[in-house]
Parts: sequence; C-alpha cells; structure tokens
Amino acid sequence: MPEEKEKKMIDIYVMGRRYKVPEGLTIMTALEYAGYKYVRGCGCRGGFCGACSTVFRNKDDYKLKMDLACQTAVEDGMFLVQLPFVPSVRTMYEVDEIEPEKDDNLLLEHYPEIARCVSCNTCTKACPQDIEVMDYVQASLRGDIDRAASLSFDCIQCGLCSIRCPADIKHYHLAQEARRIKGKYIDTHSEQLKERVKELDGCVYDERMKELVKMSKEEIKIVYDKREFKKGE
Ligand code: SF4
Ligand code: SF4
Ligand code: FES
Repeated sequence: MPEEKEKKMIDIYVMGRRYKVPEGLTIMTALEYAGYKYVRGCGCRGGFCGACSTVFRNKDDYKLKMDLACQTAVEDGMFLVQLPFVPSVRTMYEVDEIEPEKDDNLLLEHYPEIARCVSCNTCTKACPQDIEVMDYVQASLRGDIDRAASLSFDCIQCGLCSIRCPADIKHYHLAQEARRIKGKYIDTHSEQLKERVKELDGCVYDERMKELVKMSKEEIKIVYDKREFKKGE
C-alpha cells in the first residue's frame, strides 16, 4: 500500500528494547505493531473504559508521564512500560447497609486518607477526562456526597489521578462510592428505570438483541435514527 510506505518510521523503546513503528500510531497500536498482544490493560480502545493506563517517558525528558495508551500518540524516542492495573485498594462496604442521612462523614470514614490532601491539584492535571478531581476530593472531605458524585460523573476509573497523588488517595474508588450513594439515596428514583429493569429481568429484549447483533453497521444506524422517545424522556 503506497500510503503505508510513505509513513515515517520512528523508534520507541518497550521495556528498554527498541522497535521501529509508523509515526502517528497510538501507544496501544504501536505496541501491537511491535508484536505485543494485549491480554490485560486494554478494553474499549476509545478512551472510555479506563483499562489502558500507561507510564512513559519522552526523549531527553526525565519526567515520568502517564496517560491512556489508546488515546496517546507515540513519539520518536519514547520509552514505554505497561501497567497491568493500578494497584489501589478499595474499601469494602455494603451499599444497602449504608445510612448516609445518619452519617455525614461516611466517605471520610471509608477513605481517611482524603484528610491528607495537600491541594496540589496533581490529580486534576492527570485526569484524561478533565474532571475537577481535587474538587471532588474536597467535596468528599466536607461530606458533600452529592457534589462529589456530580463532579466525578465522567470518571472512567483509569487510576491516573491516584498514581501521582502524594497523599495516597484512592480518588476513583472514593468517587464511585459517592455516585453509588447518590444513585441509591439522594437522587429521585425513576419509575421508568424500575420498569425497564423488570423488563430486562423478564428477558423481554432477548429476541430483539439477537436480531440487532446480526445487523450490519448501516442497518443499526437506521434503527438508531428511527428510535422512538417516550414523552418526558
Ligand atoms: S493529588 Fe492528592 S494531594 Fe494533590 S490535590 Fe489531588 S488528592 Fe490532593
Ligand atoms: S478521576 Fe482519576 S480515575 Fe477518574 S478518569 Fe480522572 S484520572 Fe481517571
Ligand atoms: S482501552 Fe479503554 S480507555 Fe483505553
């Protein structure tokens, strides 16, 4: 393919070993081009699942950088390592047994390290979703679960914030708990959602789903464009 031939080749280093890869690939596709096969640390490939946190160093730059492997382009002279996962421990709790109305320090009790936040804002700068991470930590510290949940709504659980935090805070686990509490105890419950869950439990959509998975992308687009909305949705 002539277009392929014209692509400039650059050097990347994976665990210290040099590979030549075409310029413009993401870290994920460059590693695959170099012959590596992802068995962990890869999911959606579109920046949504948070599975592909990666540590790298650019040429002549001592700083360790972190980002999503599926969203970051390789650069000439880049040094790469892969993380199988971010090893941050989640506090165990039963969401059904939580009583947020009686305990406004719940998040602080489950994640006492949030009291050590030094307001350096490193977590916010590390976030590929542009979330105000430090602000949701501060909201959690004040017991404002609603705000912590709302601020962290777009979190993809990649863990890049936690890797750099000098206070060893587990931001995304903390925020996930806030969202669970908000969903269960703070937000108004939707009757439509209840109905839909009941329908799913009753396998109402199984046949339709089988039809959908057999469709081409174009056919699915037509179905999507013609979808009907119920009043009030
Ligand atoms: S990186 Fe850690 S210490 Fe710094 S602002 Fe974020 S939560 Fe606070
Ligand atoms: S808040 Fe943390 S875990 Fe969530 S998307 Fe941002 S960096 Fe990733
Ligand atoms: S593979 Fe899902 S965010 Fe990168």
